[in-house]
Amino acid sequence: MATVEQFDDFDITAICDADPARVEAWQQRVGGRGFTRHTDLLEAPPDVVVVALPHALHGVVSVEAMGAGCHVIVEKPMATTVEDLRSMLKTARDRRRALIVSETGSFEPGVVETGRRYARGDLGRFLTGSSINARRYFNSDRPQWFLDSQASGGGMFGNVGLHRLANARGCLPGAIPASVTAAVAHVPEHAVEACTSALVRYRDGGSMLYEEVGYFERPPWLNGGRHFIFEKGMVSWDDTTWRMMPRDGAEITRDLPPAETTYASVYRNLLLAIDGQPCAPETRELAQDAAIAQAAYESGRTGRDVDLGSEDWRIES
Ligand SMILES: NC(=O)c1ccc[n+]([C@@H]2O[C@H](COP(=O)([O-])OP(=O)(O)OC[C@H]3O[C@@H](n4cnc5c(N)ncnc54)[C@H](O)[C@@H]3O)[C@@H](O)[C@H]2O)c1
Repeated sequence: MATVEQFDDFDITAICDADPARVEAWQQRVGGRGFTRHTDLLEAPPDVVVVALPHALHGVVSVEAMGAGCHVIVEKPMATTVEDLRSMLKTARDRRRALIVSETGSFEPGVVETGRRYARGDLGRFLTGSSINARRYFNSDRPQWFLDSQASGGGMFGNVGLHRLANARGCLPGAIPASVTAAVAHVPEHAVEACTSALVRYRDGGSMLYEEVGYFERPPWLNGGRHFIFEKGMVSWDDTTWRMMPRDGAEITRDLPPAETTYASVYRNLLLAIDGQPCAPETRELAQDAAIAQAAYESGRTGRDVDLGSEDWRIES
């Protein structure tokens, strides 16, 4: 809800949380009607519902909200099953409702710069890339449901790993993920994983390797970050500078614009979608990200490649 408060285009008219104390705290802060059951809130449906719940509830609550006539902005991950993802996309289409996922990873300035150059053909073919996120996932202020694989739909990769999948999607517009192979490691003290290595292959070639590691604090000497290797050079960036090392060794650097207010991009897309205009990324692409995370868990369980184009995994356009 804190994200909505930032934007003048929206008024908060109602709050729902299963915990009455949280409802009361929010009402004191922003006013509005208060509910502990979302079905009661939907009896007088607001224009837009923000769904920010334990992940396994994202699908069903979003579908019910759209069914009641609301546009929906849903937190990442969009849902935890392919069935829910399909049902959300179908309901949005059938009911002509806007459905936007609150994920900003494809709007980061370095990602946008890479994506623009890739789409123009400046970088040539995408060959390979790598993204490593190391941090302590099991921090003490994390709500307990994140550590329940049923409620959260998995662990670190299915949650914050989505940001890295969104980075790659933004860097590689039009690239179609074809398959996922993953290894998922657990330690006895935690029910959900915080160590996943996943390889995503693209239909036209190229692959991305993801490592999400959350059992330790990240020491300063551990290499992290991400890079993308294209036919014409290696690319990476930080908050201020985009860099490319072409084959001739003459490094190219570009200053990056400051990042927008967090979530501004997401709420702009919501307004566009409500207006019936196209927005990028399409929600189907975010559904694909969520499916990739679940496919990684499936691959980890079975030890097999998951074909994202197969009947069980396909996200229709
Ligand atoms: N985009 C981001 O960078 C980002 C950052 C933080 C959190 N999130 C996402 O936001 C969502 C919420 O995360 P959080 O950290 O605020 O968790 P949280 O546990 O603080 O909030 C979830 C709330 O849902 C309530 N709830 C549970 N079941 C309910 C039900 N059936 N009906 C109504 N309320 C119910 C709980 O009482 C709780 O207050 C998650 O999807 C999380 O991944 C995204």
